[in-house]
Amino acid sequence: METSVHLDFLGNLERTHTCGELRAADEGKKVVLMGWVHRRRDHGGVIFVDLRDRDGITQVVFHEDVDPAVHSRAEEVRPEYVIAVEGTVAPRAAGAVNPNLATGQIEVVASLIWILNESRTPPFPMEEQVDVSEDVRLKYRYVDLRRPHMQRNIILRSKVAFATREYLNSQGFLEIETPFMTRSTPEGARDYLVPSRVQPGSFYALPQSPQIFKQLLMVSGFDKYFQIVRCFRDEDFRADRQAEFTQIDLEMSFPQEERIYEVIEPMIQRVCATAGVKAHYPFPRLTYAEAMRSYGIDKPDLRIPPMHPVQDLLPDLANAGMPLVAIRIPGTGAPSRKERDELKAFGQERGLRVYDDAKRLERDHLEAFAAVRARCSAEENDLMLLATWAGEPKRHRPEETVYQACGQLRLSAAQRFNDRHKLLDPRNFQFLWVVDFPMFEWDEEENRWNAAHHPFTSVHDADLDKLTSDPARCRAKSYDLVLNGTELGSGSIRIHRRDVQAKVFSALGFSDEEAQRRFGFLLEALEYGAPPHGGIALGLDRLVMILAGETSIRDVIPFPKTARGTDLMCDAPAPVPERQLRELGISLRGTGK
Ligand code: AMO
Repeated sequence: METSVHLDFLGNLERTHTCGELRAADEGKKVVLMGWVHRRRDHGGVIFVDLRDRDGITQVVFHEDVDPAVHSRAEEVRPEYVIAVEGTVAPRAAGAVNPNLATGQIEVVASLIWILNESRTPPFPMEEQVDVSEDVRLKYRYVDLRRPHMQRNIILRSKVAFATREYLNSQGFLEIETPFMTRSTPEGARDYLVPSRVQPGSFYALPQSPQIFKQLLMVSGFDKYFQIVRCFRDEDFRADRQAEFTQIDLEMSFPQEERIYEVIEPMIQRVCATAGVKAHYPFPRLTYAEAMRSYGIDKPDLRIPPMHPVQDLLPDLANAGMPLVAIRIPGTGAPSRKERDELKAFGQERGLRVYDDAKRLERDHLEAFAAVRARCSAEENDLMLLATWAGEPKRHRPEETVYQACGQLRLSAAQRFNDRHKLLDPRNFQFLWVVDFPMFEWDEEENRWNAAHHPFTSVHDADLDKLTSDPARCRAKSYDLVLNGTELGSGSIRIHRRDVQAKVFSALGFSDEEAQRRFGFLLEALEYGAPPHGGIALGLDRLVMILAGETSIRDVIPFPKTARGTDLMCDAPAPVPERQLRELGISLRGTGK
């Protein structure tokens, strides 16, 4: 860019204060401030500049009659220029005090100004809310991050990370790093691969989590490990998913599940306090089976009331042997015909038959429907929907399919009417643990069982002998931490015995060779005195997102990627020169090269 104003050299000048620091008590002090020109107002003989840095905004005033040269230099500054000013702190006139600004009682009367750098007109203003596409924000991310609300989010993220470290350190956890260039880790997503130059044709995988390494650290006797660590997963992006994201990852030796909750709950409380949020523990707990029955999902949003199975009250309405589920959304008032039709269609698309006409249910089943309403604690103004399965039951855990579809209907109805009932208040933080997940999930496409958490998760002692005979009913020693319908974290007590691990691999359909090829080093480590151990990983991005009141983790990640995995600022991913590919022994197929 052509420099249009001449720029000053800073020399050995240092700032004396930040732009958020000065108060009435500083009156008369000679100060030097540096920062960005947030706004400039020209009132003829007087120019006001709002000078901004991370810490806040201070009003600087340039009087023509005090020093015309300095005043005319101030005329040259534009938004986002970087300047330094020397001046004296003065109280503002009574009518000019700004109660919304921490420095609002004073201004700095400038005696000198240095223009340190100019700025092109920024692509959008440095305001809280800007009307600009996210793509433009991401392309000019360094400018976007200057906006007050993005500054707050990133500062909150730093505070959360610091509070986490401080707390875990106080509990005797050691922060230990694990490799980024490693072998594939089994968290169920695709791997990002890194080709090896010295061993052409071989690849490292970036870790989907440090899972295996943290288990090995327990085998090594470190007892309590944690790490705030980047994980990499090639999966479809969503508002709460990125290709690279950060976990608060920890592992302990000799814990029961209770011990994990005892460590995490106070940690969450402290972390929430950094955002001014009060979290009370113990957090409620639901088993996976209860969560499915009452909320139709393994990450229930407790801000909306639970569902209730009512097939015992209205057996005629239930599809043979399948649950009939009552859904209550409070305070919606009577829905319009159109709204009812839409809810019904939403349910039908998910395989449900929906009874949406409360008046008709009341007329046809007076007593039974009154009992349904009583079971749900329904009041006059509440929406009541009943739903059951319309089609053929699924092969495994069929009732779960019904609950799941009903859970989606419940959430969709709650979101649709939120402006009436306001239940989904982002400042209402409802934590809970979901425990006792099933060990396995049926993969319809592959026609086989998958690990519901990951294959190193312990099975409930009582279910050990069902591993091969009845995998559908095997419960795992695993737990999720859930906040307002978002899975914040997930963990388990691990398998520490080689014989049990081998059994689980075989229940998952791994041949001995495959288990050996993929996880041989772990199986071997289990033969060298592996202690019982367990742990958890929390999604730092998700936690900060909710605490910051955001709905996308992109707003709490300094340099995130778009939904297509692109970094719009530095234009990654990008093709590489042929020479680099040759060195790696790679030739591309199907890209026209
Ligand atoms: P899991 O795969 O459930 O468990 O991940 C733990 C937590 O990490 C967060 N998370 C993500 N956040 C943003 N973008 C993503 N793509 C993403 N994927 C996961 C979630 C999730 O709850 N090794 C185990 C933990 C353990 O057993 O200790 C693991 O990684 O908040």
